[in-house]
Amino acid sequence: MGDPWDGRGGGNNPKLPIPGKRNILITSALPYVNNVPHLGNIIGCVLSADVFARYCRLRGYNVIYICGTDEYGTATETKAMEENCTPQQICDKYHAVHKDIYNWFDISFDIFGRTSTPQQTEICQSIFKKLMENNWLSENMMQQLYCEICERFLADRLVEGICPMPDCNYESARGDQCEKCGRLLNPTELKDPKCKVCQTTPQIRDTDHLFLELPLFKEKLEEYINNTSVAGSWSQNAIQATHAWLKEGLKPRCITRDLKWGVSVPHDKYKDKVFYVWYDAPIGYVSITSCYTTDWEKWWKNPQDVELYQFMGKDNVPFHTVMFPSTLIGTGENWTLMKNISVTEYLNYEAGKFSKSKGVGVFGNDAKDTNIPTEVWRYYLLTNRPEVSDTLFTWADLQAKLNNELLNNLGNFINRVLSFIAKPQGLGYGSIIPDGSGAESHWLTKTLAERIGTYVGQYIEAMEKVKLKQALRIGISISSEGNAYLQESQFWKLYKEDQASCSIVMRTSVGLVYLLACVLEPFMPSFSLKVLRQLDFPIEKLHLIGNENGDLKSARKPWEFIPAGHKIGTPEPIFKELKDEDVELFRKKFSGSQADRVVKAEAEARKVAEQLEKTKI
Ligand code: MF3
Ligand code: ZN
Repeated sequence: MGDPWDGRGGGNNPKLPIPGKRNILITSALPYVNNVPHLGNIIGCVLSADVFARYCRLRGYNVIYICGTDEYGTATETKAMEENCTPQQICDKYHAVHKDIYNWFDISFDIFGRTSTPQQTEICQSIFKKLMENNWLSENMMQQLYCEICERFLADRLVEGICPMPDCNYESARGDQCEKCGRLLNPTELKDPKCKVCQTTPQIRDTDHLFLELPLFKEKLEEYINNTSVAGSWSQNAIQATHAWLKEGLKPRCITRDLKWGVSVPHDKYKDKVFYVWYDAPIGYVSITSCYTTDWEKWWKNPQDVELYQFMGKDNVPFHTVMFPSTLIGTGENWTLMKNISVTEYLNYEAGKFSKSKGVGVFGNDAKDTNIPTEVWRYYLLTNRPEVSDTLFTWADLQAKLNNELLNNLGNFINRVLSFIAKPQGLGYGSIIPDGSGAESHWLTKTLAERIGTYVGQYIEAMEKVKLKQALRIGISISSEGNAYLQESQFWKLYKEDQASCSIVMRTSVGLVYLLACVLEPFMPSFSLKVLRQLDFPIEKLHLIGNENGDLKSARKPWEFIPAGHKIGTPEPIFKELKDEDVELFRKKFSGSQADRVVKAEAEARKVAEQLEKTKI
């Protein structure tokens, strides 16, 4: 399998928008560099965006998929302190960890970059200068929480307290946002604030900062949101989160911070401060694209020719629908603004939340160690994608989906067809695809083809609307149809009694196998590769579904996919059963109760405490 970071057109041959084509720019929220992503993070952005990017490539759209690590801010500074190294070293280390994990999950980025680059500095500062020139920024004294024990201003995320909203009152709201009601907060608004590191109550101190004057953007923003949410058929959760934010009233948002690890503010008075991560992070999409191609403006300042699709978890919504568009609009330049947003809720683990420190849940690096293959992980996460409400990861559910849907339905269909064709002449077809002429007038086959045509149409419709879970379900239904077709045709009897009909059934079925490899490729690329290898049919031919416009009437019929006379490869079962014993083992291993994981977490916590001790003068 090729490395998704090579040969997809980066380097010397980057993809650029082609006028008159569908040019699609896809981003997934840039993961914070300082933690190892868990399954919830993976389904929440990179995996979902990957499915869509792969679908677009399959359709022949001109697409690039951009992502990278979000590296600046306190979280990184804190982690560096914990691990006794520089923020840059932390970023280098964890950037590689992220890259490895996404590589294992077959995420096909066109580039997986990072935000701590000279390109990021340059673009952030140049956007800032334009915002200054156009008078969208104001200066203001800000009250900020200062921890006397830790001797520093506390970053928003390092403060926890009670959510100030009377209808919420959540007791562990973060300084930047309440995870329960989703509202954005200022840390000084929290009731009973506590420093997250040392649990003392911080003091309020004054410092000057720069603010983006969001109230001045009201009209422009509302126009953008109202138009785009319709044109891009935004999901309900995206619209809700955005409107909740508008309704609270647009407030000026502070874009500078008293930190060191960030993009410095190019302004005499503020030169010792850096930009707030939520100002600089979305600009990461742009700067990472500029690392991909020096012609990045052809993607980012080209709203006529480019459609921007952004994938993220629900807590990221207002930054992408309000903050980032305002930043871009404020430059007065013609930016490509987001058209379509795909938002996921949370994936919970067994009965609770993923927690690194408690050792609860499966993290990106653990998935590999289970020996459950990538395609199974991808399938399970995608069938469970939290599109409208939170969903639950359970081992029992993973086991049921693997054993019933992948093994008994999909794998069984493929293996039944291919192993029958592979049998020697007299028992099967000696691996050669039979002729199968007359399929058009074979009643059972004709009705099957009609139903499959309908499914493919529905699949495309769902994919175009980024309803990934629905599209996957439709894909799997094609395999159920195939199984029913095999059963009804009683091909093993036909082989002796009606050779011509048996050829039709086999040629059609092997076509369905190919179709399955195609429609499921966005979801399970490694599965598709295995199928194509067994078919001995090249991957280039994946380019099938309908024609350019998705017109299905001109699309080929299942028996036309693989030519008669073609010799297939060696069939092999694709999926392996997951046994009860294994499930029990995994459940224990990732429950957080396992001693060595707890010991490890405690050791980590001790290290943090010691480091903090050392940093005190
Ligand atoms: N790092 C943020 C998170 O993990 C997401 C940043 S998305 C971006 O929640 F748009 F700002 F890049
Ligand atoms: Zn403290």
